[in-house]
Amino acid sequence: MRVLLVIGAGPGQGAVPSLIAALRRREWAVLPILSSPAEASCADLWSGLCAAPLGSLDAPPAADVALLAPCAVPLPPALAGLVSRLRVAGVPVVSVPTAPSPALPGPRPAGAAGWEVVPAALPLLGGGVAPLWLAGPEAVGEAVAAAVTRPDLAGKGVLVTAGPTVEDIDPVRFLSNRSSGLMGLALALSAWRRGAAVTLVHGPLQVAVPALPGLAAVPVRSAAQMHRAVMECVDAQAAAILCAAVADFAPRQVAEQKIKKTTAAGGDEPILPLRRTPDILAALGALPRRPYLVGFAAETEHVQAHALDKLRRKGCDLLCANDVTEPGSGFAVTTNRITILSRDGSITPLPLLSKSAAADRILDRVAAALAS
Ligand code: PMT
Repeated sequence: MRVLLVIGAGPGQGAVPSLIAALRRREWAVLPILSSPAEASCADLWSGLCAAPLGSLDAPPAADVALLAPCAVPLPPALAGLVSRLRVAGVPVVSVPTAPSPALPGPRPAGAAGWEVVPAALPLLGGGVAPLWLAGPEAVGEAVAAAVTRPDLAGKGVLVTAGPTVEDIDPVRFLSNRSSGLMGLALALSAWRRGAAVTLVHGPLQVAVPALPGLAAVPVRSAAQMHRAVMECVDAQAAAILCAAVADFAPRQVAEQKIKKTTAAGGDEPILPLRRTPDILAALGALPRRPYLVGFAAETEHVQAHALDKLRRKGCDLLCANDVTEPGSGFAVTTNRITILSRDGSITPLPLLSKSAAADRILDRVAAALAS
């Protein structure tokens, strides 16, 4: 994708290098131009960071989307002219204003080609925080991706669970698993780009959740807390995608003090009494009025047979099975190989994909089902 980056002057410009790096990590071509000719002394810097020649405001290079970062509100006349020309040409415009604008919207301005990002502080390179810069680089990248994505989930509530749960044994020990949260976050962002109002209920993650309007992150720790948080928000959801690796068992009691080797029950072969945790997916599947329900299955053998059993037993519409023993698939990697099993009997094996691309394929199915 070709991103026309219109680099503004003033507060926030110091963070543009990290923004450029974030856009280029997505393998997008970043084509820089300057909003003010007075800034031309830095031409080589911007051109070098983007690995592209500096274009001009009067004749900008062709692009799929334009990003104004940072930009003053209201836009100076030269920039306003460029924005109207881009909009006439059907190029979506994303702006990162340097001050909150009265027009700052909810998830997506209805019917508008473009996006504005809500205020959030961005740590600057070299320390400190730019109070007027309005979003972190990953959040801006998501807004740019959203501007070129068909909003086929606009206004729909989508709940995603992600990450591991953590079941405390005592103040220093716990039971948990290897889930990083990458797959769940990819699903949440894919739904968000399509205009959904996303609730992401997550255990402790190894990845940061970008601050985005219309993406509500609800951090929890244990399976019981995740169950409660999901049940509290389920009525507002059109779809629920349960990707979290929820602990199936938790210690029957959490010890108030660190359990000593010498006094642990069972002596030299210590015994930890466990109880079953609530099955959140099955609980949603049993609701009389439930959202469109997508489950996951982390399997190590007989993947399809076990996944089919889970699909039926837990009352899902779709079930995404992954073999977590396959290299490059499952826990804590950036790729996944998923097979989508459907209630109607269809089985769709996906190739090994980035978790983001796999999430897009799953959300394609969710959007199509909600539209029918
Ligand atoms: O987070 P990553 O590092 O990116 O890894 C991604 C992943 C491997 C965690 C993900 O792709 C995945 O497979 N998630 C499901 C993990 C899991 O717990 O699978 P399961 O087969 O044990 O559970 C089946 C389904 O029931 C899942 O939708 C799970 O969220 C749900 N469940 C399980 C137990 C429970 N008490 N409540 C539940 O809701």
